[in-house]
Amino acid sequence: MVLRTAGGVLVVFLWSVAVVRGQNVWSVTYSTQSICALKGSTVKLSCSFRYPRGHKVTSTFWFTKMETEDIGLDPEYAGHVEYCGDKEKDCTLRITDLRERDSATYRFRLLTDQEGGTYTGKLGVTLSVTGLQVKVTGGHQDKTLTCITTCTLTDNPTYIWYKNGQHLDESTSPQYKSSISSNYIDGYSCAVKGQEDLHSPAVCVQGQSCNRVTYTKRTICVLKGSTVDISCTYVGYYSTTSTFWFRSDKSTPEDLTRDPGYTGRVKYPDKETWRNEGPSILRISDLIEEDSAEYRFTFKTNSFEWGHSFPGTTLSVTGLQVKVTPAAEGQKTLTCSTTCTLTDNPTYIWYKNGQRLDEPTSQQYSSNTLVVLGHSADSYSCSVEGHEDFPSPAVYAPKNTSVSVSPSGEIVEGSSVTLTCSSDANPPVDKYTWYKKNVASPKASGQSYSITNISSEDRGEYYCEAENTIASHNSTALMIIVAEKQTSVIAAAVGIIVVVLGVILASCLSGFMWFRKKSSKSTSDTRHTADNGQGDSSPVYDNISGMAMTPTAAQTTATVDQDDVHYASIHFSRLKTVQLSQPQKQDEDVQYDAVKFDCPSYANQ
Ligand SMILES: *[C@@H]1O[C@H](CO)[C@@H](O)[C@H](O)[C@H]1NC(C)=O
Ligand SMILES: *[C@@H]1O[C@H](CO)[C@@H](O)[C@H](O)[C@H]1NC(C)=O
Ligand SMILES: *[C@@H]1O[C@H](CO)[C@@H](O)[C@H](O)[C@H]1NC(C)=O
Repeated sequence: MVLRTAGGVLVVFLWSVAVVRGQNVWSVTYSTQSICALKGSTVKLSCSFRYPRGHKVTSTFWFTKMETEDIGLDPEYAGHVEYCGDKEKDCTLRITDLRERDSATYRFRLLTDQEGGTYTGKLGVTLSVTGLQVKVTGGHQDKTLTCITTCTLTDNPTYIWYKNGQHLDESTSPQYKSSISSNYIDGYSCAVKGQEDLHSPAVCVQGQSCNRVTYTKRTICVLKGSTVDISCTYVGYYSTTSTFWFRSDKSTPEDLTRDPGYTGRVKYPDKETWRNEGPSILRISDLIEEDSAEYRFTFKTNSFEWGHSFPGTTLSVTGLQVKVTPAAEGQKTLTCSTTCTLTDNPTYIWYKNGQRLDEPTSQQYSSNTLVVLGHSADSYSCSVEGHEDFPSPAVYAPKNTSVSVSPSGEIVEGSSVTLTCSSDANPPVDKYTWYKKNVASPKASGQSYSITNISSEDRGEYYCEAENTIASHNSTALMIIVAEKQTSVIAAAVGIIVVVLGVILASCLSGFMWFRKKSSKSTSDTRHTADNGQGDSSPVYDNISGMAMTPTAAQTTATVDQDDVHYASIHFSRLKTVQLSQPQKQDEDVQYDAVKFDCPSYANQ
């Protein structure tokens, strides 16, 4: 077969086949033909495939024994295999937490919708899984330790040796010569660099009572909120004076029962000291994500302490989360996901609107998925059997979608408003779209929509559409009414009253004639400020109608500096626009200025 040829030749050959025979080519290419991997590790069987044009792939799977037995459906592999490929060209398979019984030849097979449309990559990938063992050879005073495997590890690994829990040496040779002294006391273990946690069991060079610690599990994945027992067995050559557990990420090993972060949550249920050996259990309850760490055990005797560098048990604490991905037309796939693979192949439970769904759900390669209709108002959550008290947060399409407007109150021509869309959704809204009623195309996107320099054409009903990965939802519409700049009768009336008051006040202070003289200069000033004010009329309007600022506030600002003075003159020149056609009113304008400037400030000029 084509595939038996070596890399470069293969590429050239496949290419020429494609040229000669068009696209009518079946192939499965495995990037490696044999893999030797450590027990407990994860391997990727990289693979790609081709099939004739016009076919549509209907099914893809890996098998070891019978061509018809998909390992994804084999309970033996549940939770250990993951198809990382697709139905186009990638057929990569991942096998996690390898066990010795996973050693086999793995082959890939695909089926298409055409008559006879089936193909198997015959060669396959031969996987060998090995543990590490320390083998002791040599005479009484001259021992050699060898780190042995049952298959040849690829990439010339570096070996690491631990003696009594302490990192001792690294070498490219799998052999280590033990020093002859204290051979009855010392326990040894070996590991491969980069995969230290997959170390060998500790062995005694001589006798059976050397110091050693054996962890029950290398990794544990548990749910947030639950309780975990991490355990090991230990043997001490002498009676122990103390034993404790610690986190490997602490600079100095600290007994967890004294760690403030674990107060009331940590127990050693079977703690006893002054013995040579036994099991030791670390129990942590009310687990939080921050408890994810590597935990190690240590013991002390009068003259000895078990080392701190020997890898212990890695704990991962995960919450449940429902992930949403598009499925077939109008459908969504919900996946109950965790950040680590829960041990013991858990059974997942689904809830719809808080009610448990009865039918068991299963899908190829995993049992933690559920397919639902896309556009529905239902909420979904999941939990794990035996831990129903710690369900995932519910996911649902956006609801309670609403529009708010800022600033609130009447909207005046030329001013600006910002509309904000809010919605209750999980996963959070990832797309907002703005619409105006009776306008076909969307006006804008983004959670906020600003309309600047508002004009009467902007009048209308606005609504937003909030969309998350499940569905979208439209808010109710908000009516935007644009008030004309010329304002209302009330505002004009207030203005006139103020003007009249101004006339009276001004007359009291300095006499009417004096103001007449001053008028030509002040008039130009007023016009200037009125122009400046065009884009800024909203606060002015509020001011006049008494909606936002109190009269006191307005007067106070007016005395502070020139800008505020201008502000005040806009105030009234705007009012005057109603009457601008009447030239003789110009005087009042000026007089009004005087009033507004207040007596003391005017006197200062
Ligand atoms: C959403 O709307 C429902 C019914 O209208 C109401 O009971 C609920 O409090 C609202 N939730 C939020 C977050 O506004
Ligand atoms: C605001 O809109 C009006 C009318 O459309 C226009 O004349 C004016 O120049 C605009 N002002 C600004 C600051 O864009
Ligand atoms: C929301 O409104 C837009 C525009 O009118 C429309 O295309 C869309 O289908 C609506 N969405 C929903 C969920 O009704």
